Amino acid sequence: MAEAQARQRGGNTDDGSASAQNGVRYEVDGEIATITLDRPEKRNAQTFATWSELARIGENLPEQVRVVVVKGEGPSFSAGIDLRTFTSEGVPGQGSFSSVAADGDTGFEQRIRQAQAGFLWLRRPEIVSIAAVQGHAIGAGFQLALACDLRIVAEDVSFCMKEPALGLVPDLTGTKPLVELVGLAKAIDICLTARTVHAEEAMRIGLAERVVAGGDLDQAVKDKAAQLLSTNRDAAVATKRLLQGAQARTLEEQSVAEGIEQAARIKALFGRSG
Ligand code: CAA
Repeated sequence: MAEAQARQRGGNTDDGSASAQNGVRYEVDGEIATITLDRPEKRNAQTFATWSELARIGENLPEQVRVVVVKGEGPSFSAGIDLRTFTSEGVPGQGSFSSVAADGDTGFEQRIRQAQAGFLWLRRPEIVSIAAVQGHAIGAGFQLALACDLRIVAEDVSFCMKEPALGLVPDLTGTKPLVELVGLAKAIDICLTARTVHAEEAMRIGLAERVVAGGDLDQAVKDKAAQLLSTNRDAAVATKRLLQGAQARTLEEQSVAEGIEQAARIKALFGRSG
């Protein structure tokens, strides 16, 4: 099948322009899906529509996809939430924090859960998600990078958890992966000072898997995707499931879980010939 035919447009409809309206481009090429935040002139600021779009992509992800790349067009990965959300006018058609707050506690919490759905699916065992991060990754942008399994970053990257400086908490699923990656003390330092973490520190503290020159970011992500696709699909899913469960289990429980997964693998690989 020609490459063009193999690519599918995602989003509200199959019409690419609908995706572009929500500031998200999405394409599937074989086993790799690429999601691109596409409002470079606004530094890929995110809105409730961005998060609905991400959730919809997750719900409709074709079964053959094994690697999901999340990237941002232009100089910044994402400058976080669209600051118009803080104004009384809000984002046209999407309201503002004050209009959402008027929904009452339950309505507001539900809205946050809906937004989080755009991030949570990126950790599914069936896929490995890679954030390709250049320039600013602020607030919701930092959290989107944290929602992915791996982060490959450009030398000019700057992560900043700005929410506490604005009177908010990080609520787009970023706090748990941050603590797991860098530890509680460093996470407290990064969040409660809202300071910027640059490439060298990101690499040193485990936020980034690899730092490359800006011009090499796409190739570095392609290379990582190719490496990930080189292993057995079912074994990769089972192994990710094991790794994800490891922290919550004791060594004994984890050993039992390994045995269960391995028995299933061996049955699948050798069962029929026995
Ligand atoms: N929302 C809306 N528009 C934004 C934006 C944002 N978060 N960030 C940048 N833009 C717009 C600017 O207004 C500007 O638009 P115009 O050209 O129409 O004036 C355009 O993008 C380019 O911005 P700059 O000229 O500022 O670009 P820069 O490269 O000099 O600076 C930046 C980039 C450091 C990211 C700076 O734009 C900035 O500080 N942006 C705001 C970051 C921020 O505070 N985000 C909120 C994080 S908290 C969060 O995300 C909370 C949550 O989840 C609940």
